Amino acid sequence: MHNIGSYDERAKNFSWDISEKELGYQPGDNINIGWYCTDRICDMGKAEKTALIWEGLGGKHKQYTYNDLRLLSNTIAGFLTSLGIVAEDRVCIFLDRIPELYIGFVGILKTGAIAQPLFSAFGEESLIVRLENAETKAIITQKKHLGKVRKIVDKLPYLKHIIVVDDPGKAPLQQLEIAFDMDNAERLEHYEVYPTKAESPSVLHYTSGTTGMPKGVKHVHYSLISQYLTAKWVLDLKENDIYWCTADPGWVTGTSYGIISPWALGVTQCVNDIGFSADAWYSFIEKHRISVWYSAPTAIRSLMKAGDEVIKKYDLSSLRHLASVGEPLNAEAVIWSDKVFGLKFHDSYWQTETGSIMISNYPGMPIKAGSMGKPFPGVVSAVVDPESYEEINDTGKIGLIAFRPGWPAMMRMYWNNEQVYKAKFNNGWYIPGDRAYIDPEGYFWFVGRDDDIINTGGHLVSPFEVESALLEHPAVAESAVVSKPDFVNMEVVKAFVCLKPGYEATPELNLEIMNFIRKKLSPLAMPQDIEYIPNLPKTRSGKIMRRMLKAQEWGEEIGDTSTLEDD
Ligand code: WT7
Repeated sequence: MHNIGSYDERAKNFSWDISEKELGYQPGDNINIGWYCTDRICDMGKAEKTALIWEGLGGKHKQYTYNDLRLLSNTIAGFLTSLGIVAEDRVCIFLDRIPELYIGFVGILKTGAIAQPLFSAFGEESLIVRLENAETKAIITQKKHLGKVRKIVDKLPYLKHIIVVDDPGKAPLQQLEIAFDMDNAERLEHYEVYPTKAESPSVLHYTSGTTGMPKGVKHVHYSLISQYLTAKWVLDLKENDIYWCTADPGWVTGTSYGIISPWALGVTQCVNDIGFSADAWYSFIEKHRISVWYSAPTAIRSLMKAGDEVIKKYDLSSLRHLASVGEPLNAEAVIWSDKVFGLKFHDSYWQTETGSIMISNYPGMPIKAGSMGKPFPGVVSAVVDPESYEEINDTGKIGLIAFRPGWPAMMRMYWNNEQVYKAKFNNGWYIPGDRAYIDPEGYFWFVGRDDDIINTGGHLVSPFEVESALLEHPAVAESAVVSKPDFVNMEVVKAFVCLKPGYEATPELNLEIMNFIRKKLSPLAMPQDIEYIPNLPKTRSGKIMRRMLKAQEWGEEIGDTSTLEDD
């Protein structure tokens, strides 16, 4: 039997009290995610249960029990406290997917400070805007990323501590830097967990904006109430599961469902930091007997591309439930997974801002391949008219996805940006910015984003950020950045560039610009294609018409350009 039982029954009689009760939480109590993920599981008699199985490159392997997790997160929390970190300080985690990232996250939450995870492939420009905006006080990083941090440290007056978790070797530590060796530090048996309340801030995730700089999405400890129950009902996590979430905690899936919910449920989870290859992934599943697997369409399409033969080499019979998130999951991918694994990927839809799964296919519910499924019980959801924000009642008619605010994991604010936060609400709805329609049976079908943001392999990239970075290259006079189609990543970044006089479009310049962006922002933001054009199409008011360039890339009708003129 699946945890959710009958979706229809659950949807009829839903209240978040179900989750509060299971977690033993009553309104007004203290609630600290760090404590729920460690001490509580130990108190429930599972101290010796494996919490984390980790594999790195070169056959590196580590394993931690819930008691290890409890003690090590205490140790980290104690160390941060000794440095002077206090509640609500922002502590950035800038690490590869190593155990210190996962356990450090929990440790930060125990101090009452706010965890700010950033993707370790970020370059200095991506890093600085996010650290500046959050006025981050400490950053936890490793030797290999120290160079990027050192380059920007002088521009960050709020940054007081740079914690290096691996042996800094011969290179002496510089100003603000301090070493911390988690595995060998003296373990702290007792740490007084900070008495956070429901509305105390917990996590700050940065997400790309359309026209401005990245926005810091502020979450609170009460988000656990959503994350716990969605993981239980959507991912169907149970006592004996071995769970693998392939997302990096630099992104929200990697924290909500890659740290918080599996550990709050007391499940054993596996993590690897070995890069992607079909062989490596299948052998990881086989070796650890993974039963529940939460992944992303880009990974699934990469596996499809690797072919079906390679699957036969592995025993994947441990798998029992598959789910996906981050970008549209094509019907073909669902049909393929059913064919090769005997299991369908269950698509789920949500955002950094929503903090937890909002629309999904549930275990036991008939799946319509290509559909995102139905709203989570208790989530009031609709498709609304883009002008009036009134609910559209005609099935099949496309509109904007809308949610009634009120689920526990909803963001509480964009960091220092109330104006943009407020603009996300209209007519009593929260508007995520995606277009969809609902079919007669209540299933949601994703149509596309309602803005210019590029979703490459499940990662959002802001054209504005790439264009701003391009302007810093000496050869670039102007640019427009749009998505172009790609089989594996669905969308990749394409840049249209106008060169400054004296520069010539050469293959060398192409490579130079690509590398410039890769280093400054990240490999995700790097244009896969650069096209040099003499002028960019613009509206009368001088705005670049990205949509026209995008339509060209996707072979779509450009339509009536006069309507594009000034919007
Ligand atoms: C955007 C949110 C929360 C997961 C990681 C991404 C797109 C997300 C789906 C899906 C089609 C999807 C939307 C959404 N998206 N899930 N199942 N089908 N599109 O979080 O970085 O905040 O991105 O990803 O456009 O708004 P994010």
